[in-house]
Amino acid sequence: MESLSDILKRARTEGWAVGHFNASNLEQMRVICRVCRDLKSPAMIGTSEGERDHMGLAEAVALRSALRHEFGIPVFLNADHSKSVETAKAAVDAGYDSVHIDLSAKPFAENLAGTKEVVIYARAKNAGVVVEGELGYLRGESKLQKEKIEIKPEDLTDPDQAEHFVAETGVDRLAPAVGNSHGIALDEPALDIERIRAVRARVPESVALVLHGGSGIPEDQIKAAIAAGIANIHVNTELRVAFVRGLRQDLSEHPDETTPYKLYREAEQTMAKVIEEKLKLFGAMDRI
Ligand code: 13P
Repeated sequence: MESLSDILKRARTEGWAVGHFNASNLEQMRVICRVCRDLKSPAMIGTSEGERDHMGLAEAVALRSALRHEFGIPVFLNADHSKSVETAKAAVDAGYDSVHIDLSAKPFAENLAGTKEVVIYARAKNAGVVVEGELGYLRGESKLQKEKIEIKPEDLTDPDQAEHFVAETGVDRLAPAVGNSHGIALDEPALDIERIRAVRARVPESVALVLHGGSGIPEDQIKAAIAAGIANIHVNTELRVAFVRGLRQDLSEHPDETTPYKLYREAEQTMAKVIEEKLKLFGAMDRI
């Protein structure tokens, strides 16, 4: 199976982006893999700390392996937004393919030291684990935002600092703050495409740039971000909204249904539709 690092490198040189989709249960993980298989895309599944607390680390890893076998496509599991060195290490120990150590809310020196510690730990434990670091500050949470999110100039990633951060930590992927935020914002996001280009120019070719907060960003901005060097795009809120909307629909249309798995049909379909649209937008189909 082609490694995640090789796929990300290929995405960068071929001008597309690997879709990273969050999940917190079997149904969602399977929908992601089904759509990826149908569109011939690699599947990258993310679990935030909350999502993996819900599923269990060992369970998520076992499902990843089972889905890889069942669907016959590359399926990778990422420990998304690990907010401490300990939770990142726990994901490495459990057998995750990738960890995202996110100490971006901490002072720069602390972010750098903690991220470096995770890179060293991951390499020693399993040379194949891919580590993502984050620099700059991303506001919002993966939900429908009720208030406007104001992105401050000091939130954004400084390209010089990004160069230093990547060289010192040895991360494989870098998530910069480039006008993006988590969740679906009330106002339209405005990505700083020039900043993506500037960060891209400062970090080694082998390091993939990641765009978080992929929900609610207009299509033309996503395309411009990929052209500027983004090779990996994370989507969560749009999937959550689609899944829960479908679930509510099934629950209200079938009030007498008591077989749990029969109540996921609409949720799975609406979520599948979002994944399909995103993979097409990212240019990720027909890539495996
Ligand atoms: P959204 O919830 O805005 O799609 O962001 C998801 C994300 O960045 C997960 O890492």
